[in-house]
Amino acid sequence: MTAPQAQALLEREERHYRERHPRSRASFAEGEEHYLYGAPMHWMRRWAGGFPLCAARASGAHLWCLDGFEYVDFCLGDTGAMAGHAAPAVTAAVGRQLAQGATMMLPTEDARWVGAELVRRFGLPYWGFTTSASDANRAAIRIARLITGREVILVFNGCYHGSVEEAHVGLAAGHMVMRSGVHPNAVDHARVSRVVEFNDPAALEAALAPGDVALVLAEPCMTNYGLIEAEPGFLAELRELTRRTDTLLLYDETHTWSAGPGGYTGREALALDPDIFTIGKAIGGGIPVGLYGVSQGVAERLWEHAPRESVRPGVRQSSHLGFGGTLAGSAVQVAAVRAVLSEVLTAASFAHMISLATDLATRCRSIVARCRLPWVIAQSGARVETLLAPSPPRNASQLARTRDGALEGLLHLYMLNRGVLITPFHSMLLMCPATTAADVERYVSLFQGLCEELSSSAAG
Ligand SMILES: Cc1ncc(COP(=O)(O)O)c(C=O)c1O
Repeated sequence: MTAPQAQALLEREERHYRERHPRSRASFAEGEEHYLYGAPMHWMRRWAGGFPLCAARASGAHLWCLDGFEYVDFCLGDTGAMAGHAAPAVTAAVGRQLAQGATMMLPTEDARWVGAELVRRFGLPYWGFTTSASDANRAAIRIARLITGREVILVFNGCYHGSVEEAHVGLAAGHMVMRSGVHPNAVDHARVSRVVEFNDPAALEAALAPGDVALVLAEPCMTNYGLIEAEPGFLAELRELTRRTDTLLLYDETHTWSAGPGGYTGREALALDPDIFTIGKAIGGGIPVGLYGVSQGVAERLWEHAPRESVRPGVRQSSHLGFGGTLAGSAVQVAAVRAVLSEVLTAASFAHMISLATDLATRCRSIVARCRLPWVIAQSGARVETLLAPSPPRNASQLARTRDGALEGLLHLYMLNRGVLITPFHSMLLMCPATTAADVERYVSLFQGLCEELSSSAAG
């Protein structure tokens, strides 16, 4: 497959997409009159095809657009809808709580159950709510700096942890640079950020050696630039090196929760044992929620700075710790998390989702092999990723060299035009509890059609 051949197929699919979706196109054109980027969120315009579908409704693993077409949704709101769209248990719990008061500046009874379940699932003993995963990471960074007295936050090249200033950096020719498109926002990244390649223990050791890093902010398997798995021993080494240098380790499992009911951190055999843990998106079942959990040691160090006891008589209380928010920990958030954890993303649901993802990945791997395409089908639990790379990448720089805008656009639009949504910006397919074997079948048969077309046009 040459670049002009991929480009020609992409143009065919773009024409087809424009013709099929006149109402979505008109809706976006009207949006351009009112929104900075044509839609409520700037990245909504970045779906393949030049304009996004206008969503009419979604239920379970399916979505319908304004033009009347139905889709199997493997994007699932980039994990925000991993519980499935309009999951009945979440809809009922949230509806009930809305009718009884959404936010009251007070804890509710659901909070007790949720607190205990968070400890059981993920293992960290103390928790706090925020309104997004980004915000949970920002809270964690503030706590880390407060208790360590250090300033630097270390991240891995190619990471994404939300709108977190310190993490908007990457590597170019071995030097730290701003991620493309992101303004430094008056933050002195040279002072507060450090970045190394994933799976590079020597670089990590050197970066931690000065003893000025407050926190390593990481995913146990990188999910935002394709899917890059940790090599055997790397996470153990990360834990050992952070301990040796008194650096805190945070696992952000906002995406990697797809690995199982407790994410990677909840798998005792892995012994990841982070000091801080964050999560968001799916755990609210569509209601904006972020959570941070901390170890006993971090909690005790935090309480030294911000004591735990309630109101002391005669002492004027400050409510500011520099993190949190008025709607964080609201009754409706807590009700949503309870419904998700107790009834939707259960151990049985994860088993179902992971088995579907395994079937999809296995079948796509044999199609890729039969069609002699130099692609890798990677999987992490309920998440599958098509990587246009000849072998599993070790880090983001390696993966960057194989990314191909025309081929990725073609994969996305080919699927969109035939009733399947995959996640924009990379090629992630995520299962939810409502995903069925028939949904997987639809993707696999379309994937086979595309691969055969690509290999026959390459041969011709
Ligand atoms: C690993 C990870 N952490 C945090 C976030 C931020 O989530 P939110 O945008 O909901 O704050 C994202 C978003 O994609 C993410 O992928």
